[in-house]
Amino acid sequence: MTRRSLSAAFAATAVIWGGASYADISPADIVWEDEIAIPASLTGTPGDPAAGAEAFSSRSIGNCLSCHVNSDMPEHDFQGDIGPPVDGAGARWSEAELRGIVSDAKRMFPDSMMPTFYNDNPDDYIRPGEAYTARAYNPETFSTLLTAQQVEDVVAYLMTLTDW
Ligand code: HEC
Repeated sequence: MTRRSLSAAFAATAVIWGGASYADISPADIVWEDEIAIPASLTGTPGDPAAGAEAFSSRSIGNCLSCHVNSDMPEHDFQGDIGPPVDGAGARWSEAELRGIVSDAKRMFPDSMMPTFYNDNPDDYIRPGEAYTARAYNPETFSTLLTAQQVEDVVAYLMTLTDW
């Protein structure tokens, strides 16, 4: 095999179900700092703030608006008040802290109602399959609520929210 076709073959196999990639850091392999923050990107691909905004507001992706008021999205009605407004989140928290909060909020906020968006260890938390999506938990089909790249996109978006 030539060098070129080898790398093409690798690119083809790097994509697996659900848009995840072998380059992604799996939840179990995350290196945490002080148990609450994640300094390193989960994917190595910079987050896209526009895609993050879409994930933030979309009911079928992050559904963050159902719990958080966000003044950056006045076009969306019915913003929830279960959590604090995210206005200024990019000024209050570091990128590593936001990556930690979005991936596994219960480390920063024990007993939080905020879902764990990037953790696939059912022993660590109330399983989203039961508590959040209302689908029964099935280890064969279970996936994290957000993909690693969606976490990066949402973090990149939150970093743009510096006014409050
Ligand atoms: C079921 C409700 C719920 C959902 C859905 C939710 N959160 Fe939260 N979030 C909370 C609560 C409650 C807190 C406050 C922490 C605590 O529990 O004390 C919080 C805290 C936060 C904070 C820190 C707030 C601050 O003080 O600046 C950020 C940032 C955040 N959430 C982002 C998100 C993002 C991004 C999403 C979607 C991917 C999301 N949340 C989805 C409930 C939610």
